[in-house]
Amino acid sequence: MKITCFNGSPKGKNSNSQRIASEFLEGARQAGAEVENIFLVEKKIGYCRACLSCWIKTPGRCIQKDDMNELLEKCVRSDVVVFATPLYADNVTGILKTFIDRMIPALEPYVKRVNGETLHLKRYEKYPRIVVISNNAFPEQTHFQTLRLYFRRLARNMHSEVIGEVYRSAGEVLRAQNPLLKPVIQSYKKLLRKAGEEIVLQGKISAKTKKKLEKPLVPPAQFLKGMNRYFEKRLERLAGKGSRS
Ligand SMILES: Cc1cc2nc3c(=O)[nH]c(=O)nc-3n(C[C@H](O)[C@H](O)[C@H](O)COP(=O)(O)O)c2cc1C
Repeated sequence: MKITCFNGSPKGKNSNSQRIASEFLEGARQAGAEVENIFLVEKKIGYCRACLSCWIKTPGRCIQKDDMNELLEKCVRSDVVVFATPLYADNVTGILKTFIDRMIPALEPYVKRVNGETLHLKRYEKYPRIVVISNNAFPEQTHFQTLRLYFRRLARNMHSEVIGEVYRSAGEVLRAQNPLLKPVIQSYKKLLRKAGEEIVLQGKISAKTKKKLEKPLVPPAQFLKGMNRYFEKRLERLAGKGSRS
């Protein structure tokens, strides 16, 4: 099984998205998958120009000379793609959305109706199944409502299905150096490896693992205190610097 992760965080290798994805991919690798981890921020990917050349003049290929044709090939040749993104304004990052917009050469221009709704025909026989990894700042799982729906819609349009979702609220906790949080983070990482393994061996994340993965890392009240203290300190430091100059 080939699994390719497309990481849409501007922080790339130093992102919380990567902290989560790397454990998930390691679990998948240990279960026998071939894994590849791609940081979209390091790639040259232009906006879709809506010229439709990829459907008319050069079917299946975009005319832009950037990294996208190669990335799209990697995507459609995978059995599973992992979209790993921080939550930005309740959605995926612009980096990931630009990548997703550029996926349209993977479809035919022709359309049909399925279950009362129109969609484009397949260009390929098989499309990768989808795993979503996202993390955000706030401590509630409800912030991922848009993503849950968005990736289901995307999967439908891409003749695919969402087979796993890892939504990590209060994801900034994963970056924390506080030794008291270390055991919590370690056991969360272990669960992520289990989720990766389950995707390879069972084709889904079990309900038990999913439930454990969605447990809060810290109580919301502690989170609020921590976040407000963090910004208070940063603003104070800046004000201190300002008054010295
Ligand atoms: C432009 C921007 C928009 C954001 N929007 C949200 C948001 O809507 N909800 C939320 O809970 N966190 C939001 N965040 C916080 C990030 O999701 C959070 O810091 C996350 O841990 C970053 O993950 P990364 O390290 O993988 O990039 C936003 C951050 C930025 C910079």
